[in-house]
Parts: sequence; structure tokens; C-alpha cells
Amino acid sequence: MSYSNINMQSLEEVKKSLDSKTLRVCVVGIGRIGLPTALSFAKSGLTTVGVDINESLVEMINRDNFPLKDEPGYEEIFHNVISKKKFSATTKIEDGVSNSNLILLSLPTPMDENNVPDYSALKSVASQLSQFLKPNSLVIVESTIEPGFIEDEMISMITDNERLTAENNFFIGVCPENANPGEILHDFTNLPRLVGGINKNISKIIKSIYNFVFGVELVEMPNCKTANAVKLTTNVFRDINIAYISELAIMFEKLGIDTNIVLEAAKKKYNFQVHYPGSGVGGPCLPINSYQLLNTARRTNSSLSIIESGRKINEKMPEHVIELTLDAFQECNKNIQESTILILGISYKPNVKDIQLTPAEIIIKKLQELGANVCIYDPYFKNVDVFGIKSEKNLDDIFTNVDAAIIVTGHDEFKQLELSKFNQMNNKILIDTRGIIEPISAKNENLIFRGLGRG
Ligand SMILES: NC(=O)c1ccc[n+]([C@@H]2O[C@H](COP(=O)([O-])OP(=O)(O)OC[C@H]3O[C@@H](n4cnc5c(N)ncnc54)[C@H](O)[C@@H]3O)[C@@H](O)[C@H]2O)c1
Repeated sequence: MSYSNINMQSLEEVKKSLDSKTLRVCVVGIGRIGLPTALSFAKSGLTTVGVDINESLVEMINRDNFPLKDEPGYEEIFHNVISKKKFSATTKIEDGVSNSNLILLSLPTPMDENNVPDYSALKSVASQLSQFLKPNSLVIVESTIEPGFIEDEMISMITDNERLTAENNFFIGVCPENANPGEILHDFTNLPRLVGGINKNISKIIKSIYNFVFGVELVEMPNCKTANAVKLTTNVFRDINIAYISELAIMFEKLGIDTNIVLEAAKKKYNFQVHYPGSGVGGPCLPINSYQLLNTARRTNSSLSIIESGRKINEKMPEHVIELTLDAFQECNKNIQESTILILGISYKPNVKDIQLTPAEIIIKKLQELGANVCIYDPYFKNVDVFGIKSEKNLDDIFTNVDAAIIVTGHDEFKQLELSKFNQMNNKILIDTRGIIEPISAKNENLIFRGLGRG
């Protein structure tokens, strides 16, 4: 079906175009979040095009090759919508945008080496939208951005050449993404979503579109900046609480208190929300989201010292893992220099293939600085070059060739491991940073064990 001009500020026209499936959708940025989003829109019957600057990703998709193998449920949808010609990908933003009524932006919002948020992808696409967006289109930003970014920057970039005027022939809103990698289909079809529009009418229109595609609860916010504030508030809440528990866990180690037992009991209190300590907080969201709010604080001359402290604690946790490791080496009178240490898990969180800002990278670097040889096993990164190391293909023969092992990621596979395997290691040193090994079981196996926060 070819493009037809739909006035995206008319609820009646939008509803009609959804029912007749004439509304055309373009998703710019088809990575971890954007591709499943595009597939969901295509599955609902709307012709959807994905735009990405990554040529090999676009080629792969158009060859019917699904790139997100660790995202359950989407592979079947992918082949289905490709075969029905409901979804295709392109590197040409002008084609995607100028043939669509609804443009979703799922672009990366990382930070630079100084922890300053980097909105360059959104800014570059905003300037392309100013050239190619058809009048009466609706743009929805799903990327995680600071409150005020739409109102203070995005709108003026899109309307810069005066071809379009906000609220007249161009409309914008936000629907921040809150899915968990590895569970995106479940989250898209279950979790409530926040909606904010340039005005109330646009919020209602966005709600009707997302209700049509996802059928989840849509929480209407008074404007875009409030929706983005909520998104950051919830994620940064987690970053701070993980820091709190991690710092407590270090103290509990000294007191001989097991943090796991503390947390299990604390959960019984009706208003306690559990967070777990660990080797650090990585991924594309939490660390960046904290720095986004800190950036907002700088811009508005406000103080958010609790977030600053939380970040410092979480960023120091890899160092604590090294302290535990050195302590274990000392106990058995072995030198870490020239020892071989197995890192179990490099993903930033369990059961996903994602190493963005993973604490594993820092731990590996620190071990190498101490002169240790590092080998890696991760079920999601087998036999690949990662952090300058060729990862192992399987676990079977590794244990006899290493002196120590550090569980950095709590992948399910490691929970099934028989503890006797670790007994094959030369120094029998096991460090568990994710609370998955019971200290008493490790002791019964005669391992030299250190559990982060396990007293
Ligand atoms: N991954 C998550 O867990 C998660 C969860 C919630 C929210 N988010 C947010 O969603 C947004 C997208 O994150 P993601 O994890 O999907 O990122 P991603 O890196 O997996 O995907 C982004 C895609 O955008 C493409 N891209 C970059 N610049 C482009 C440009 N100028 N034009 C077209 N394409 C371009 C990249 O090639 C990539 O394929 C971010 O704001 C992130 O914070 C991510």
C-alpha cells in the first residue's frame, strides 16, 4: 500500500488509518529495542520500514536473517512479517521518513568517555527530519533522554528550516522504552508505557496507536519532559539502591553477615524493595541514566549528590572483586602474577548477550595489570575475540587449566554447575560476585571461596 497523507493530529483519521492499516510507520534505529518495536508494528498489520546506518544489519534483515537470537518470540514474527512484505529495512532515511506518517526514533543515547550524555544520533536524525518529514507526520521519541530535551532542543532542530511548524503541521511526543533485553516481547505486551505529547491531543493519539499495537496500559503524562523524568527516576532509583546494597555488602563481609540472608528477611517487610549487590552496574541504561540526570542537574544548577555517590560506589565494585581475589590468593600463599584466572560471564546482566559497559571488562583489565592470564567463558560469547581474548568454546576442559575462577555474571548456566568442577582448578579459588554459590557448599568442597557480601 502506498503512502497517503494522514493528518496525525486528527484522532478520527488516525483511528481510521489503523483500522484500514493504511498508516505507514518508519522506525529509525533498529537495534536491540528498535527492531522488536518495528516488528511489533508490522505484526499489527501496519507497513513498517526500519532505517539504520548499519549497512550489514540492514542487509542481514533484508536477507531474512534474524539478528536478535537472544530475544525469545521475535524470530517467528520476523520471518512472518518479512514474508508478508510488512517489514523491510533500509539505510536511506529519506526514503523511510518521506513515505511514512509515523516516525519512531529508537536511536542510541550513550555517553562519552567523560560520562557526558551523547545525543548526537538524535540530533543528526532531527536535522534529517527537518528536510524529509512530510507535513502532518507524527514523530515519537522512544530513546531515553533527559527531561526537557524534546522541548528545548529537538523541536527547534526539526523546525529549523521553517518548512514545518510544531503543532501546526508537525507533531511530536515520547513513549520511553522500558523493556528488558532478553524479555522484550513479554515486556512490550505486559508493561505499562508512559506517553507524553507536545499537547494533550497528541498524547491521546499516541495512546490510541500504542493501544492498537501493544494493548498495554498507557499512562498519560502532562508533557514530554514529565514522561522522560519518570523513566529516569525509575532507572536511577535502581542504580542508587544497588549502590546502597553493594556498600552494605562490603561492610557485612567484615561483620561476618551474609547479605543474601539479610535481603531474604528484609523482603518480608511490606515496603522494602530488594536490590542485589554485585561486581558493578553496566548495560545501556542504568549508568547512563544516572549521568543523564546528573547532566540535567548541572544544566539547572541543582544538586543530586546521592546519584553521584551511588555512581562512585557502583564504579568501585570491580575493585572490590579484585580485593576478594587477592585475599583468596593470599590465603593459599599463591601469587596472582602469572596465574590463570577464568572469568565466568562477561555480559552486564544474566542471560543476555550484551557487554555494553560491563564490569567484566574492568575486572579483566585489572587482573591483567596484576600480571594474571585471563580466560573467558560466557555461554553468549563462545569462541569469539572479546576484550583482546579469544573466549572458550565450552567449559568441560577449562577447570584443570586454571588456578581460579570468578563468577562475574549470574547466567543460569552457572547456577547449574557442579561445585566439584571447581575442585579441579589448581588453586581451587572461587570468587562469586553474584550470590549464586552457598558459602557452606563451597567450604564442603574444600574451595578457597570468597562470596561478595557473603560474610
Ligand atoms: N537496550 C536496552 O536495554 C534499552 C532499554 C530501554 C531503553 N533503551 C533505550 O533505547 C534507545 C535505543 O537503545 P538500543 O539498546 O536499542 O540501542 P542499539 O545500539 O542496540 O540500537 C541503536 C541502533 O541505532 C542505529 N543508529 C545509530 N545512529 C543512527 C543514525 N544516525 N541513523 C540511523 N540509525 C542509527 C545503530 O546502528 C543501532 O542499530 C536508547 O536510548 C536506550 O537508552 C534501551
